[in-house]
Amino acid sequence: MLEVNGKVIAITGAGSGIGLALTKLCLHHGARVAASDRNMSSLTALGVEYPDVLHCATVDVSDSQAVTQWAKDVVAHFGQCDVLVNNAGVSLSSNIQTMKRADLAWLMDINFWGVVNGVEAFLPHLIERPAACVVNISSLFGLMAVPSQSAYNAAKFAVRGYSESMRQDLRDTNVKVVTVHPGGVKTNIVRNGKHFDSLDGSATNTEETAAMFARVASTTPERAAEIILKGIKKGKPRVLIGRDAIFLDILQRLLPGVYDRITVPASVKGRRRLASQ
Ligand SMILES: NC(=O)c1ccc[n+]([C@@H]2O[C@H](COP(=O)([O-])OP(=O)(O)OC[C@H]3O[C@@H](n4cnc5c(N)ncnc54)[C@H](O)[C@@H]3O)[C@@H](O)[C@H]2O)c1
Repeated sequence: MLEVNGKVIAITGAGSGIGLALTKLCLHHGARVAASDRNMSSLTALGVEYPDVLHCATVDVSDSQAVTQWAKDVVAHFGQCDVLVNNAGVSLSSNIQTMKRADLAWLMDINFWGVVNGVEAFLPHLIERPAACVVNISSLFGLMAVPSQSAYNAAKFAVRGYSESMRQDLRDTNVKVVTVHPGGVKTNIVRNGKHFDSLDGSATNTEETAAMFARVASTTPERAAEIILKGIKKGKPRVLIGRDAIFLDILQRLLPGVYDRITVPASVKGRRRLASQ
């Protein structure tokens, strides 16, 4: 068991959604938190509430030099780092035939290379601790694929493979690796993303997709944070969040080549029903 009380936990993308909820929960449990985001608005207010135990920094995870500097700053400030949570992420809905390479690269730079940047910058510090943990936030979409999500699916499947292999590389060390696969969590992920095509192939936009997502995402960020914290404490290799993630993980394992014959018609039907309400 890794008790978080007194530990130093670095969290990327901590300014919104799951990252912000996890930051607050870790502070509540007595941890010292190094919170970073490219957008500091929510963190500035929290910093005033927790002046001694919260260290906030503006960091773009796709910038490897900035992440390396942030890791040095965190260790200089708190004297150690015990847990890294690679949480920052963005979303993109774009059909494979029209997707712009620049959009794919934008997403991969944040959702995949951002995770690699975090690991490379923090692992040398984590390895020196008696007990440490890396948490990489993948997704339900790191377990199963859906239409219009080839970029997001590619990044989240990559995070899963990278994390599961890293866990095995580090098995004889003090560093546990936790891979997290959330289903739908009510956050700003869609509102902050780029959305051009919907699951059924029709054209959409960010506002419409965000409104649909708000109606189907069933888990709160606070609940997601509780499940992640439990996973950190237990050093669980694989953490699923939400009934949707648990059910669809089983489905794609039972029907690996054909699960989309069930999931695609069901999501298209659900989307049409929501649109008509
Ligand atoms: N919400 C969901 O349904 C869901 C499901 C599965 C996985 N996830 C994953 O959970 C993680 C957190 O997402 P969320 O739902 O809380 O979304 P969110 O949009 O509420 O929060 C993401 C945070 O990441 C930050 N961010 C984006 N790009 C960044 C960059 N280049 N550098 C630093 N920070 C950056 C944003 O400013 C934001 O504060 C993401 O990795 C996401 O892919 C979310």
